[in-house]
Amino acid sequence: MAEPMVILADDDAGIRTVVSRALARQGYQVQATGTAATLWRWIEDGTGDVAILDVVLPDENTLDLLPRIRQRRPQLPIIMMSAQNTLLTAVRATERGAFDYLPKPFDLGELVTLVKRALALPRQAPLDGEAALPIDEQLPIIGRSPPMQEIYRIIARLTGTDLTAMITGESGTGKELVARAMHDYGKRRDGPFIAINMAAIPRELIESELFGHEKGAFTGANTRKIGRFEQAEGGTLFLDEIGDMPLEAQTRLLRVLQSGEFMPVGGRTPIKANLRIVAATHRDLRSLVAQGVFREDLFYRLNVVPIRLPPLRERPEDIPPLVQHFLVRARNEGLPQKSISPDAMGLLKTHSWPGNVRELENLVRRLTVLYAQDVLGPEVIDVELREGLPKAGPGEEPQAGQDLTGLVARHLETLFQAHEGRLPPAGLHGRILRDVERPLIEKVLASTFGNQLKAAVLLGLNRNTLRKKIRELDIEVSRRPR
Ligand SMILES: Nc1ncnc2c1ncn2[C@@H]1O[C@H](COP(=O)(O)OP(=O)(O)O)[C@@H](O)[C@H]1O
Ligand SMILES: [Mg+2]
Repeated sequence: MAEPMVILADDDAGIRTVVSRALARQGYQVQATGTAATLWRWIEDGTGDVAILDVVLPDENTLDLLPRIRQRRPQLPIIMMSAQNTLLTAVRATERGAFDYLPKPFDLGELVTLVKRALALPRQAPLDGEAALPIDEQLPIIGRSPPMQEIYRIIARLTGTDLTAMITGESGTGKELVARAMHDYGKRRDGPFIAINMAAIPRELIESELFGHEKGAFTGANTRKIGRFEQAEGGTLFLDEIGDMPLEAQTRLLRVLQSGEFMPVGGRTPIKANLRIVAATHRDLRSLVAQGVFREDLFYRLNVVPIRLPPLRERPEDIPPLVQHFLVRARNEGLPQKSISPDAMGLLKTHSWPGNVRELENLVRRLTVLYAQDVLGPEVIDVELREGLPKAGPGEEPQAGQDLTGLVARHLETLFQAHEGRLPPAGLHGRILRDVERPLIEKVLASTFGNQLKAAVLLGLNRNTLRKKIRELDIEVSRRPR
């Protein structure tokens, strides 16, 4: 094997010379530059086994470049140097995935030691050749499996049109993500994207949510309210969980789609609808039609372009890049950098993923927060996959010492430890509360079969507060028992 190659970016020519000589004496090859542009070319070329980067280059701040370098070259250890020796610079560098950080002026011996350590790092084997593929930060949808490529082709073909699309697929397969992508790449991208979840709205309020209402239209309608159809003017209206729409509202919706106009509840003047509709459901609409709970005519109106998102278990080759994507995202949120051993990845690829990508995303999040080791092996994955399974059922008592407060305390302990003496990023209170609220609300909604009135009572929350939380936490609500 050829000697390892160190790439060095520093705008100070003196430092470039000194460092290059010191490293050459150790038998390393060195390539040095003073600009971010050349550095980036090398990153893209695959040049270098370790990188030493000064934070400030004349053309770009390398801290800003770091996430992109990490994404393009996840295996390349990066040593950051800076004369701006603030805590913030160091924290930023580590947060963004630098292997280490050296304040300037630095000791040459120390730098050489760091380079040796960086080169001795175990490299994560490329995962079926997938991890080696550049993961574009801009790509909203991850996965290159044939069924996903087919989805991309459909989205691409629809960009210039206003055709109504119907996205079907199990929960967590990315229906909302695809709807957003259709909007973001479509001709209405400058307009708003408005989502409304039919399953999350009490049926008696659906019409006023959709079409708005005039002041005094019904008891409690104290002011005029703009509906989602009006909010989505010029943009896209995403009708999520359309299979849960009550029949009366289906009739109203059909009329709107036929006439191109809608009427606020209690209103007199129809309003012209200027929007694109994308609908989604995890239900089998054809069987709902057969059962008489979904209007056939509405089905055909909406199903102009059907898009079926395959469950994750049908595209296991997408799992490694998705895991990588969620690891990078966790890292960008300031959580510690982890990798998954090839054996562990093998386990992930054979899991059946009943909760699809959402389940995988949650698993990766748990892994990054709960485990101290950098490389996660199959034992950990095995435990966590079982963890994700539905528990024995209600009535299961928590074990001694496992009360919620104890669990949270231990969770926080690990979280702080994982930042190795530095502090986790700001916003901790909100993040921890979300982690508690989400399972709580999901459980209560599941046990009331999506009845939000009952769920609100059970939780002791005001109904509007509950609705707000469901929206903010992006919680799936199912009306019927599955
Ligand atoms: N192909 C994908 N690439 C990246 N993230 C994805 C992908 N599919 C789903 N996700 C993520 O998984 C979660 C669930 O996706 P979502 O669109 O809400 O699913 P659905 O609406 O089908 O239940 C979201 O956080 C979404 O960003
Ligand atoms: Mg959804």
